[in-house]
Amino acid sequence: MSDKKILDPWSSEIPSDYKAVMKEFGIGEITSDLLSRLPSHRLFRRNIIFAQRDLGRIVKAIEAKKEFAVLTGIKPSNFFHIGSKVVVDQINYFQSLGGKVFFCVADIEALHTNGMPPEETAGIAVDNVADIFALGIDPKKSVVYKQSENTRVLQLATACAKNVTNNMLRAVYGEHEIGHYISALIQVGDILLPQMPEHGGPKPVLVPVGIDQDPHLRLTRDIAEKHKLILPSSTYNKFMRSLSGSAKMSKSEPQNMMTLSDEPKEAAKKLMRAFTGGRNSIEEQKKLGGEPAKCVVYDFLLYLLEDDDAKLKKRFEDCRAGCIICGDCKKDVANRLVKFLESHRKKKKKYMDIAAKTLEKGAF
Ligand code: TRP
Ligand code: SF4
Repeated sequence: MSDKKILDPWSSEIPSDYKAVMKEFGIGEITSDLLSRLPSHRLFRRNIIFAQRDLGRIVKAIEAKKEFAVLTGIKPSNFFHIGSKVVVDQINYFQSLGGKVFFCVADIEALHTNGMPPEETAGIAVDNVADIFALGIDPKKSVVYKQSENTRVLQLATACAKNVTNNMLRAVYGEHEIGHYISALIQVGDILLPQMPEHGGPKPVLVPVGIDQDPHLRLTRDIAEKHKLILPSSTYNKFMRSLSGSAKMSKSEPQNMMTLSDEPKEAAKKLMRAFTGGRNSIEEQKKLGGEPAKCVVYDFLLYLLEDDDAKLKKRFEDCRAGCIICGDCKKDVANRLVKFLESHRKKKKKYMDIAAKTLEKGAF
């Protein structure tokens, strides 16, 4: 194996240097030209979506009112964690700009990379899909499916395996069990699905993901080129950190993860224990100010709970000036979190049956 750096989609590390990763793999920035051609969105303004491949192709399709798709997926290995909402927000945004939505429940990937067979993840899959519907994805206007039951995706994965060598996979992903590579090929199938004839044929497809998923995009782009399909575009969002502030929020560190299914009061308690950018004492905090850029509680406002940029900025500045102390700040954020989770729960309840029926549809 070469000493070229590798991004591993199955690890829970956050890349320490996003810029270096972008340079290494030729991932582009979100340029001011792209930004000026898209309706303003909080996730772009706050630089949470910070990088892209061929986003220009999607912008052109929007401008020309041409068909395009927007697609992402989730592994049903656990409840939907709060950091993943960023991806659903993007799907909603691009849907509102005319994108046709595809959403994949990656139960084969959960089998191979988490050791959880589809029978075991079926219940979580329904729960996850109810979450995305409650977050705004329209069940009537989207294609939502499980990998294990979408024969077209499985066919595509099999067909795409032709010409993919061991060396290629090793170069892109590093050394892994074959099951991981199989999941990767199925994900290629997911990403190419919107370009199949039954979905209207070749078209631009945008895949919003965390940057750890870029290896899948590189592989898919390579294969798309060979099959005369349009290379998929992608946007990359930053990860919400775990409550301990150490790594990305992930299902592998459950005590420091928060999900959309958490009992609201428990979630509030977890938040009260989260890592902050506060000082050792109130006196010190008043004197030196806090460090919001390091603070997980501030991240909750940034990613999720404060829509108003001016109010967010004020919190940042009040914290830095030592005008606000962590106890009060956390209580405020915890209250907002409880409200958000309670309202989400109510909406989600209504979608549980629809989610179950959507996934029951079986083969496509
Ligand atoms: N691999 C993704 C994850 O681990 C899930 C996924 C499956 C996906 N298929 C996809 C993401 C297609 C984007 C596009 O969460
Ligand atoms: Fe974080 Fe709020 Fe404390 Fe500042 S005051 S460090 S934003 S919890």
